[in-house]
Amino acid sequence: MTLKGFFLLLSIGAFTAYYVYQPIPDQIEERWKLMLTDCFFRTLSHLADFSELTGMKDYMGVMMFITFAERVVPQSDENVHVSEERFDGVEVVVYQPKVLGGETELRRAVIYLHGGGWCLGSSRMGPYDLLARQMVIDLNSVVVSVEYRLAPEHHFPVPYEDVYRVVKHFLQMEVLAQYAVDPGRIAVSGDSAGGNLAAAVSQQLQQDPYQQVKLKVQALLYPVMQALDLNTPSYQQNQNMPILPRTLMVRFWSEYFTSDKNFFRAMMANTHNSPESAALLKFVNWSAFLPESYRGKYNYSAPSVTLRGTGSGPDTLSHSIADPRASPLLVPDADLQSLPKAYVLTCEYDVLRDDGVMYAERLRHAGVQVTHEHYTSGFHGALMFTMWPTDFMIGHTMMENLIRWLQQNL
Ligand SMILES: *[C@@H]1O[C@H](CO)[C@@H](O)[C@H](O)[C@H]1NC(C)=O
Ligand SMILES: *[C@@H]1O[C@H](CO)[C@@H](O)[C@H](O)[C@H]1NC(C)=O
Repeated sequence: MTLKGFFLLLSIGAFTAYYVYQPIPDQIEERWKLMLTDCFFRTLSHLADFSELTGMKDYMGVMMFITFAERVVPQSDENVHVSEERFDGVEVVVYQPKVLGGETELRRAVIYLHGGGWCLGSSRMGPYDLLARQMVIDLNSVVVSVEYRLAPEHHFPVPYEDVYRVVKHFLQMEVLAQYAVDPGRIAVSGDSAGGNLAAAVSQQLQQDPYQQVKLKVQALLYPVMQALDLNTPSYQQNQNMPILPRTLMVRFWSEYFTSDKNFFRAMMANTHNSPESAALLKFVNWSAFLPESYRGKYNYSAPSVTLRGTGSGPDTLSHSIADPRASPLLVPDADLQSLPKAYVLTCEYDVLRDDGVMYAERLRHAGVQVTHEHYTSGFHGALMFTMWPTDFMIGHTMMENLIRWLQQNL
């Protein structure tokens, strides 16, 4: 090898090591695997930025690669019958236990909402397909996995409304009968942005005076709960944590509402609150709702409030960020009291940790039965990592604990 070649190799090696190596807390297991996984996500994100900058394809359009790479065609097997259907116009994948003989026993049901920041993801991704099948087998339940429409093509409230329509459709007596579902044993669940949708739907359903069939439980897995304060201690502590750095979460939030980059910049600076949303800051006040152990060294300062509007209609935007269908943490205690029993999963190494912790605290305070499972070595998105080559033990543990809770409570 020539000296030049040697130096070239050396510099490529050094660059790669520098690029791949991200400080990851010792508490996290399988750190190298997470570093490599994160490296893939970061590279894709850089590509997406570049592509958007040069006008080739928008950022989320490139990030959708992850969704397509993990896409499967959900198929029936010896235990599970799978069908792709439409509930009130919205695509769903329905998983049902295969019945032997003339079984008539009514079953449980889980309505599942996938994550991906309202912009990415699909019910047809391998890990969601796996989770749905596991639930069918272990819970003898029907699983309805919802293919709601995504931002930025469909901004808020479209994704939320798609989910609400599916839930309203499914909770009709004649539809439940068709799937042999027990009306008293229905859950809604979702991870990340799906947890946000699950919490919002549970609240809105409770307020609907004509709704007869109720949800029995809600299982919120590292959910997104509020858009008002993007500087909670967990946002600060985990701002560069894989696989959801603060920039990406802020990007998801802003794209959920608008494609206006000014709004993204305001959210990054945590100066996006209007006088209208500022009136609700009391519901996300982490110096009041976050237990001291989570507050750590961070001192509370309320996000600043701006009167300045952004390009695409400041009124609509401030309405949206203050809307509990987008930020379910923004409701008074009276609206929490009658909510279904809850399971809340949070991870220490996650910008969204405090969103989930505060909701669990507020629910408990309002008298709702809550199981709060906090993973001290957990990182955001771990439930998506249950399949080769990104297969993490903690993802399997989370899945087992969730299903066990559903076995006992649904
Ligand atoms: C937040 O709570 C603290 C005390 O718990 C209080 O002093 C402060 O005024 C509150 N701020 C807001 C914006 O609600
Ligand atoms: C929080 O406030 C205390 C007391 O004023 C100060 O000593 C500490 O450095 C502050 N922490 C941070 C992270 O700014």
